[in-house]
Amino acid sequence: MAGRFESKRALVTGAAGGIGRSVVELLAAEGASVVGVDLNSSGDILPCDVSDESSVATAVAATVERLGGLDVVVNVAGIDQIRRFEDLDFATWQRHLGVNLTGPMLISQAALPHLRQSKGNIVTIASIAGLRAQPYQAAYCASKAGVILLMKSLALELGADGVRVNTVCPGGVDTELPTNAAAELTDAVLDWDLLLETSGARYGGMPPSHIADAVAYLASDAAASVTGAVLSVDRGTAC
Ligand SMILES: NC(=O)c1ccc[n+]([C@@H]2O[C@H](COP(=O)([O-])OP(=O)(O)OC[C@H]3O[C@@H](n4cnc5c(N)ncnc54)[C@H](O)[C@@H]3O)[C@@H](O)[C@H]2O)c1
Repeated sequence: MAGRFESKRALVTGAAGGIGRSVVELLAAEGASVVGVDLNSSGDILPCDVSDESSVATAVAATVERLGGLDVVVNVAGIDQIRRFEDLDFATWQRHLGVNLTGPMLISQAALPHLRQSKGNIVTIASIAGLRAQPYQAAYCASKAGVILLMKSLALELGADGVRVNTVCPGGVDTELPTNAAAELTDAVLDWDLLLETSGARYGGMPPSHIADAVAYLASDAAASVTGAVLSVDRGTAC
């Protein structure tokens, strides 16, 4: 059986991470030619800091040169550092907005001429933290809520060009991101019950492939009439 992405060309950010890697593997397994980019580049993964305009321009140009165009862009790169609000320094706040909000804006804008040409689509990984508030996550929540409305706005604006734009909001996924974020916590200063209740941690982590499956659906022709959607994959956490 032919894959859903035969002859499609895809760019995936955050490709060295848990979800990004899974997205790259699934799209490639279904026939796509895929270029992954990441801050942490090695092997086939191209270097890119998604929060830096010139780095994004270079990486998107290199991707298009390699693939001959673009049909699918998947914004996966992200960071999450847990802080009490009084400990949230300006640099940490700026870093979250830079990677989680400005990053998808810069990548989508640089890719736009190519997506217009192919009538392609964008899928962005936000988070349930953009739908439901979590304590000690002010910067993360603000950046993820922002990126959800950024993508809805693009869906409206780009509809006339035949470019679809959708968002996936994962709950807890078994990757390094929540593990690293949790490593910064201390029991003394945090309300664990509130954090666990709102983060979905009590439901256990999902495998990254569950997020990749949602991305692949939204990026595929099966979702030809789907744009501006925000698909939670969270075992009901954000209900
Ligand atoms: N893991 C979860 O529980 C969870 C839940 C909801 C949303 N998400 C979101 O899913 C996405 C992927 O996270 P993950 O769980 O795979 O984490 P991860 O830490 O495994 O992967 C994140 C990747 O992003 C890359 N990255 C960070 N800053 C970058 C930058 N400036 N430029 C380019 N790449 C950069 C990292 O190097 C890393 O490879 C993130 O946007 C995250 O917010 C994750």
